[in-house]
Amino acid sequence: MVMKISILGTGYVGLVTGACLAEQGHNVVCVDIDQKKVELINKGVPPIYEIGLNELLKKNKEKIIATTDAKSAIKDSEMTIICLGTPSKKDGSINLSFIKRGFEKIGNILKQKKWHVVVVKSTVLPGTTKDFIIPILEKISGKKAGIDFGIAMNPEFLREGKAIKDFLKPDRIIIGTYDDKTKKTMQKLYQDFNCPIIITGFTEAEMIKYASNAFLATKISFINEIGNVCKKLGIDTYDVANGMGYDKRISRAFLNSGAGWGGSCFPKDVKALIAKAKETGEKLSILEEVVRVNDLQPLKLIELLKKNISNLEGKEIGILGLAFKKDTDDIRESRAIPVVIKLIEEKTLVKAYDPKAMDNFKKLFPKIKYCNPKDVLNSDAVLILTNWDEFKKYNYTGKIVIDGRRIEEAKKGIYDGICW
Ligand code: UDX
Repeated sequence: MVMKISILGTGYVGLVTGACLAEQGHNVVCVDIDQKKVELINKGVPPIYEIGLNELLKKNKEKIIATTDAKSAIKDSEMTIICLGTPSKKDGSINLSFIKRGFEKIGNILKQKKWHVVVVKSTVLPGTTKDFIIPILEKISGKKAGIDFGIAMNPEFLREGKAIKDFLKPDRIIIGTYDDKTKKTMQKLYQDFNCPIIITGFTEAEMIKYASNAFLATKISFINEIGNVCKKLGIDTYDVANGMGYDKRISRAFLNSGAGWGGSCFPKDVKALIAKAKETGEKLSILEEVVRVNDLQPLKLIELLKKNISNLEGKEIGILGLAFKKDTDDIRESRAIPVVIKLIEEKTLVKAYDPKAMDNFKKLFPKIKYCNPKDVLNSDAVLILTNWDEFKKYNYTGKIVIDGRRIEEAKKGIYDGICW
């Protein structure tokens, strides 16, 4: 069944969702306030870097259009998926002002429509759909959720760099909803997907998203703490992780120790969940430690560096990798950020290279030197912060290398690994 779908927000979640639903045969209208983004999408050019997105947009050009006109897009579609950002406020709690405006627009249009399904894909804290979103929609439209319009909470589990694969071949699809008509529409939307579709309440769906991300971040901080001890005991943490991973209850995924986790989701989501728990009078002490371990982890690289060069002042230190992980230009909460801040404090001369993320990093650190990999390798020492595949091809012979991401080939240098 081909559907007409409007998507609010063309960040990586919105655009990937749009491109993948078009690939499934649906007609998609992507809405964004940014005219430049809209023009690019209409030319079949993705405004963000995401593997496979370029091809998908070009291939499905006839089935995706972009516009700044939210009103018409919502009016002319049967379903609107909200993929607007929910950034953190200073205290870690989430800022709902973007999604609020989005739902107000939808509420106004619902007034004129017989039936429309609204899907919340933005990451929102448990309770938000029920206590914040539905009241806005009902108040503005004068209609009743589940009776006059449908609403579902359908969290995304998309990894940047693998978002298209994660969308088209998910481990599971979670749909929080409470009326049968919406449930059936959502099941139809995902009818060609070969994975379990789990129907829950709204609040459960919201919590599944937060608890999943918090658990994955916990796995990484856990293996990093074990890794820090392994380092002291002369044990290779990767051997330990491999051995643990054979236990199906544990699984090997997300047990790669290193400089820690960053990105647009884990840091924001874990902190927002901690803040939400506080509101209820509960303390998420495990997650508080998960964050603390992650804050300290990148600085381990500087400790190891100082073992090789005791006085860092005036030394040239190369950084390989600025993106928060490989295959993305995203530097949000990248572990390279605290490392560069510390190196600047230590009065070193920082020389950095990243295949995709240098432009973004320049906005944060305009004064450090950005160069090609050869120049970076020509420093007094090199720190590896991202696991880009191309870093495997460099010649590290004779260089001091402190590795935060397990690039085996770098072992040809004067090498030290963070947890191995
Ligand atoms: C994450 C979730 O995986 C995804 O389901 C969610 O919806 C969005 O957030 P993403 O932020 O794109 O996706 O990156 P992910 O691949 O999960 O990695 C997050 C961070 O953890 C990166 O900084 C990565 O380098 C680090 N990481 C990951 C490790 O340090 N070790 C691992 O074993 C795995």
